Amino acid sequence: MTPSASPAPRTLRVGIAGCGAISRNHMAAFRALDNVQIAGVCDVDLDRAQATAAAWGVPAAVATVGELLDLDLDLVSVCTPHPTHEDVVLQAAAAGVHVLCEKPIAIELASAERMVAACDAAEVRLGVLFQRRFWPAAQRIRAAIDDGTLGRPIMGQCSVMLHRDPEYYSRDAWRGTWANDGGGVLMTQAIHYIDLLQWFMGDVAEVYGRINTYKHGHHIEVEDSAAAVITFTSGAMATLEASTAVSPSLGVQLRVTGETGASASLTEFPEGSDGRVDLWAVAETISAEPAHPEGVHPNVDLATINGQLIPHHTTQVRDFVQALRDGTDPAITGHDATKALRILLAVYESSRSGQPVRFADLPSTKQTPAPVAG
Ligand SMILES: NC(=O)c1ccc[n+]([C@@H]2O[C@H](COP(=O)([O-])OP(=O)(O)OC[C@H]3O[C@@H](n4cnc5c(N)ncnc54)[C@H](O)[C@@H]3O)[C@@H](O)[C@H]2O)c1
Repeated sequence: MTPSASPAPRTLRVGIAGCGAISRNHMAAFRALDNVQIAGVCDVDLDRAQATAAAWGVPAAVATVGELLDLDLDLVSVCTPHPTHEDVVLQAAAAGVHVLCEKPIAIELASAERMVAACDAAEVRLGVLFQRRFWPAAQRIRAAIDDGTLGRPIMGQCSVMLHRDPEYYSRDAWRGTWANDGGGVLMTQAIHYIDLLQWFMGDVAEVYGRINTYKHGHHIEVEDSAAAVITFTSGAMATLEASTAVSPSLGVQLRVTGETGASASLTEFPEGSDGRVDLWAVAETISAEPAHPEGVHPNVDLATINGQLIPHHTTQVRDFVQALRDGTDPAITGHDATKALRILLAVYESSRSGQPVRFADLPSTKQTPAPVAG
């Protein structure tokens, strides 16, 4: 007797809030899944919402998150600018709708904590996009920590040396401001790799950091460059450097040395390409995964970057949808995503005060940090 086929899972109804650049990745990611329907999109710019709905065959386009949540949704993807994330997430939680939010979860610690608490109280899942954790290279290093190949991390290095044009910052009014962007290279670009660093290295104890604005000072108020020393509760240490004042871009490198003495590092070069293991120094042998094909201009166009990120958005979106079906936590929860935010906020606070910041003492709201003089 052939076993009867198990019933198809219920179709989940998805809403997408914000129809800008990154929403395309969410559209493509949800569209790639079975038994998921994008029921509606919303944007404060209704014309943009309508154009997006028409382009993707989505049945409803509305101008407010309230109207979107009225569409009987199971989950909403938050693709709006950073400072609006809290408002959208709180509305979704109040409506009993699960939320997948773009990074950074928020621009203030207090805001992130309110979002996590509201979703917990409403018993809805909150996931946050850090799609680079799904790189096979990142998974390979994480596994080498867990299986003892590297062992407990003792030293880490995170280098995020990128290029941005002035046009990048002038593209939208919210970019490059403390009030609306919440920070510069740390908040918007380096947060992905800070998340990977802490995922590899563990909980943070103390941060000592400095920020400055070397290249973009005449058109942004936030930092374009930062450096920090991070100490972990395990006693491990790491350095962080991050900048958007680099040309050509050097991409990203993230290296971990474990207590076995073995090291592994991954690189993202050019920016937006898949991370690959560029150093695997284990048991006296050194190897690396093959480099990406040559000939790619290192200062890649941002639209291209976002397009290239789609495969890993799809993996994380699939993980989130599966977690909802299974009633489990997604791979990256709001609580997890708050850890990277805390680290970069501690760099800002340390730069402002000139002192190391004990992680436990980090204030819930930040005072605007001034660039280091001299
Ligand atoms: N995971 C990644 O790699 C990645 C990459 C790029 C951007 N992002 C994040 O995605 C978010 C959006 O970035 P973007 O580049 O798409 O920005 P964007 O400016 O291109 O798009 C944002 C859209 O949201 C709309 N909007 C603003 N406030 C709204 C509100 N209250 N309700 C509904 N719509 C609203 C705007 O009109 C705009 O169309 C940011 O938080 C950013 O950090 C993540």
